[in-house]
Amino acid sequence: MCGIVGYVGHREAYSIIIKGLKRLEYRGYDSAGIALLNGNLNVYKKKGKVSDLEEFLGEDKHFLNSTIGMGHTRWATHGEPNDVNAHPHYSSNKDLAIIHNGIIENYSSLKMDLTLRGHVFLSDTDSEVFIHLIDDIRINNNCSLEEAVRVALSQVVGAYAIVIIAKDTPNQLIAARKGSPLVIGLGKNEFFIASDASPIIEYTNEVVYLNDQEVAIIKDNLLTIKNIEDVQMTPYIQKLELELEAIEKGGYEHFMLKEIMEQPKSILDCMRGRVDSVRGHLVLGGLNEYLYKLINAERIMIVACGTSWHAGLVAEYIFEEFTRIPVEVDYASEFRYRNPVVREGDVLIAISQSGETADTLAAIELAKSKGAVIIGVCNVVGSSIARASHAGAYLHAGPEIGVASTKAFTAQVTVLTMIALQVAHKKGSISDHLFRILLAEIESIPDKVSTVLKLNEKIKYISSIYKDAKNVLYLGRGYNFPVALEGALKLKEISYIHAEGYPAAEMKHGPIALIDKEMPVVVIATKDSSYEKVVSNIQEVRARKGQVIAIVTEGDTQVAKMADYTLEVPATHEALMPIVAVVPLQLLSYHISVMRGCNVDQPRNLAKSVTVE
Ligand code: G6P
Repeated sequence: MCGIVGYVGHREAYSIIIKGLKRLEYRGYDSAGIALLNGNLNVYKKKGKVSDLEEFLGEDKHFLNSTIGMGHTRWATHGEPNDVNAHPHYSSNKDLAIIHNGIIENYSSLKMDLTLRGHVFLSDTDSEVFIHLIDDIRINNNCSLEEAVRVALSQVVGAYAIVIIAKDTPNQLIAARKGSPLVIGLGKNEFFIASDASPIIEYTNEVVYLNDQEVAIIKDNLLTIKNIEDVQMTPYIQKLELELEAIEKGGYEHFMLKEIMEQPKSILDCMRGRVDSVRGHLVLGGLNEYLYKLINAERIMIVACGTSWHAGLVAEYIFEEFTRIPVEVDYASEFRYRNPVVREGDVLIAISQSGETADTLAAIELAKSKGAVIIGVCNVVGSSIARASHAGAYLHAGPEIGVASTKAFTAQVTVLTMIALQVAHKKGSISDHLFRILLAEIESIPDKVSTVLKLNEKIKYISSIYKDAKNVLYLGRGYNFPVALEGALKLKEISYIHAEGYPAAEMKHGPIALIDKEMPVVVIATKDSSYEKVVSNIQEVRARKGQVIAIVTEGDTQVAKMADYTLEVPATHEALMPIVAVVPLQLLSYHISVMRGCNVDQPRNLAKSVTVE
């Protein structure tokens, strides 16, 4: 959460920073601010989006000749979204400014101390405390800014990615991280700092990912990285493989629609070079070394948040069915605080699109400390979770920018299915014949998703009928139960309609009381082992005059007679149906959101990457 951009070099900093902030807006959009150094250290900030900041700054960009600066787009934690709480924050004498992503947990005791020492605070944020602390240390110890930052870092508890700029050092930016991501782009006589690589990619493809508890000092065209004990570290320079088009809308009105539509390709990309049904081959290079741990595991734990947790639920069904290894799926935020039983030899699979979710990262650290092997399933290459894992498999789905996750979900389920099948095959818990059938079925999924996407116009029409619903119930059973949860999440997060996902059979234990003629019920009723039972559940809804929108398998005639609307999807093995069946639900939520005039890509109060707990 919160996006950070910094620049120092020979170009005009303002435009680079503003453009970078727009790319990072998915991380938060409560306020935006910028600090530019040009003799004076000037801070400009405004509640709202980066475009509000631009509007506030108007035509008169007298600061356009500044070649060093930093900017921030905020997702509010401490202090309401307003101009004062927006970043950057100044120190008392306005000699220093900071931008911060994360939470300083001991900020109130630090603030009390600093207030007694004469510091005056303007905002309600924890971040402002950080810069006063650094300033206080610098003045009292008469030390360099770099040293003061290091000392301050040893006093704060919590998570941070920070950038600091000082009036008296016009060629210097200092950055540090713990728990929140930071990447440094290395250009020719110029440096970029950002929360992810998207603001950097068009200038350079050489980057250094800062590690936890490291401080980067960019001064006079030199990058030095030290840990907080002042030991110099050797920067590990990596080449970015990101393409600029991948982070642009490519003609679509919204990133979410683009990401829904590109799923045939993103699913293909995540199986490229990994699956070959003809030769009976399935290879996941990043797992090789630890595959035996999975094969011999007595149980598998899965942790994740949000949509990734739903992918984890699908994986539970798949792993248990094919590998016969017991699986438990937890919300990472629950796992980390419930004193879970973790034994040496247990395997924990952490699923995360961003690879930065704070709770998932903390769950990993906990399980690791108890001897578990960590398998990361992430989309963002080089992310914190990917690096904290012993082994893993990337999604290779390309950047996902719309806050509501779509293509990451289908890629996660694809990758998790591949992992489960590889383990099952090596373990001998499925026959070679079934293994090959399932591999061929995986290979056919991109085409089947393409077929589903052709339903777009019909889904748009159905959306126009239900766009004003107050509540929507989503029902599914077996492999399709997590799909019902995911469909409901998509609708509520971008259209603000209350929606609940339920296992179809559980409906009669509560939600059935809500059903009347006003209540649309979306039922995933594809032909699988629970089909007949789901058909009975649809009858129960109809008997109470609920309206039914059903996702059915092509050629289904039974449900068509009962449902108000049906959406036919191609048949596949039931374990793979979630990848196909979720797509119409993504489109349904997308169109309803657009028709209600909501901000599809940046829904209120949400952020794409939740780096605070
Ligand atoms: C946020 C996003 C969701 C995402 C969840 C987990 O809530 O808005 O789309 O599913 O975080 O994120 P992760 O990056 O760990 O998958």
